[in-house]
Amino acid sequence: MKNVIPKIQVLLSLAVVLVLLSVGSVVFIASGDNWQFFVEDNTPWKPKSITTDLEGEEKASLIKYGYDVITKSPEIIGPLSEDAKKRFAGNMLSCQNCHLEAGTKPGSGSFVGVANRFPQFRGRENKEGTLLERIDGCMERSMNGHKMPHNSLEMQGMVAYMKWLSEDVPEEMEERYKGYIKVDIPNEKADLIRGKEVYTQHCLVCHGEDGQGQRPNENGMYLYPPLWGNNSFNHGAGMHRVITAAEFIKTNMPYLQADIDNQVLTDEEAYHVAAYINSFDRPQKSNPEVDFPDKKKKPVSTPYGPWADNFSAEQHKYGPFQPIMEFYLNEYGIKKTK
Ligand code: HEC
Ligand code: HEC
Repeated sequence: MKNVIPKIQVLLSLAVVLVLLSVGSVVFIASGDNWQFFVEDNTPWKPKSITTDLEGEEKASLIKYGYDVITKSPEIIGPLSEDAKKRFAGNMLSCQNCHLEAGTKPGSGSFVGVANRFPQFRGRENKEGTLLERIDGCMERSMNGHKMPHNSLEMQGMVAYMKWLSEDVPEEMEERYKGYIKVDIPNEKADLIRGKEVYTQHCLVCHGEDGQGQRPNENGMYLYPPLWGNNSFNHGAGMHRVITAAEFIKTNMPYLQADIDNQVLTDEEAYHVAAYINSFDRPQKSNPEVDFPDKKKKPVSTPYGPWADNFSAEQHKYGPFQPIMEFYLNEYGIKKTK
């Protein structure tokens, strides 16, 4: 279990134990598990901000529109859009519900640096894919909807925003911001009873006993998004894989308490609660069998078949995952982490 060190204590211990490393223009200061990053003039490095850094930007209005799409998706590209032709997303989630702080929070699949990593090979399609195609993936799964035309203002805006966030990002920062942190996945089947206990203690207050979240009224956006049911991500989404969900939850939930440096849940708790929220009904993605044309490249915790192995659907959903990972290593020489 990781220690949760209050920030003030970190600062105090920094004064005593200082490990200083200078790489290029970025200075790393480490104390225990905690890392702080400073640029040359001793101010902490932070991503660009829509409120303070847009001035003088050539594509400012397009970038701002992309930011709006990401933070208010249901109103612009979802069920609440006034233009029926623009209702591409089928649920009530915003991109920001998973890519926190409009994609600027490290460890939440951040958009800081993302544009520099595409085009990229993707196992789900078994080919090189662009950033726009990656967004299509989240539209069809996380947002339970359809692809948007690539030349639409909404798509172009999101891409402009991501490119802008990805400019001039020091390499070390790109590493820190991207993806999720690794969680030590227990070598046991996820336990829904323990998952429910964690949920009741740490999640229920915001997401509700029925997992449906909270919103001010029937026509508004959610303050606390739903975790399962019709308005949630569909069964083809990354968040529906227990390992991926555990990684997201570990660094980001409970909301405003967990972050990349300080977490609330243990790895075991994140694992069991990830299984719990994914044990309920949610929308079904059509044609899931065409995903991962090369079945050997499918993540072990993809809960829908077919697979290139004989483990049960139950085990692909709830684990234990280590025996499946060992199988791929021994049988195909493939080392899997998710
Ligand atoms: C239900 C949660 C969820 C929602 C909502 C969601 N995503 Fe994602 N997104 C994910 C997950 C999970 C990943 C994979 C992260 C990983 O494995 O590192 C991902 C990955 C991505 C990536 C690639 C990131 C990288 O570093 O390679 C992009 C780009 C992206 N999403 C864009 C979007 C956009 C744009 C929207 C809204 C239209 C959106 N997502 C909505 C969960 C979500
Ligand atoms: C203090 C309120 C609060 C608590 C407690 C909380 N969440 Fe969240 N959760 C949020 C908010 C708000 C978001 C969306 C973040 C945003 O839009 O910036 C979110 C997003 C999520 C998402 C991604 C979006 C979605 O709807 O699927 C998941 C999954 C999630 N929470 C799971 C959990 C789990 C599991 C716990 C308990 C360990 C938990 N949350 C505790 C407020 C909370």
